[in-house]
Amino acid sequence: MKILAFGASSSRNSINKKMAAFAASLIDGAQVDLIDLNDFELPLYSQDKEAELGQPHAAAEFLRKIQSADGLVVSFAEHNGSYTAAYKNLFDWASRIEQKVFQNKPAVFLSTSPGAGGAASVLSAAKGSAKFFGVDLRDAVSVPKFYEVFDEATQKVSDPSILEQLKLAVAKLAAH
Ligand SMILES: Cc1cc2nc3c(=O)[nH]c(=O)nc-3n(C[C@H](O)[C@H](O)[C@H](O)COP(=O)(O)O)c2cc1C
Repeated sequence: MKILAFGASSSRNSINKKMAAFAASLIDGAQVDLIDLNDFELPLYSQDKEAELGQPHAAAEFLRKIQSADGLVVSFAEHNGSYTAAYKNLFDWASRIEQKVFQNKPAVFLSTSPGAGGAASVLSAAKGSAKFFGVDLRDAVSVPKFYEVFDEATQKVSDPSILEQLKLAVAKLAAH
């Protein structure tokens, strides 16, 4: 099974990228393509920019990565209660090529932050809009207090309860 995983953030040390990578690693036998949104950087979307640039390569390539996957693991970073500008920008560009950005792929949505809220607000937004963008959403997990539940040395979740939630969530990607 081919899994596309990413953190919806452009932070170099994105904790959401780490969470997505870890969760994807829990899928037995999966071939994981972990992408970095910095490799899909685009000018700030506007209809004027679109008239100028058309369908930029980075947006088309992002869609192609989704298309070639059997399942998706996306972990959303929260900036002021919502998506990071980097993710929203790429998503807006991609949606102009294919409105069903997630192309009906089975997906697990995650979110994490250093605080007790676990970026639950952005996760709620992503869940709420999933039906408009072709997401076959199998499960969603918000992970609070990243630095307390994730062991940087091993790059693994050390909290047993969170680990169990993540295992159950990603197992749903394989089910039909
Ligand atoms: C501009 C800005 C706004 C933020 N707003 C929130 C927020 O609303 N909720 C939250 O839980 N964390 C917030 N944070 C903290 C982020 O959760 C933290 O920076 C986290 O590392 C972001 O995920 P990332 O490392 O994957 O980019 C904010 C951080 C920044 C820089």
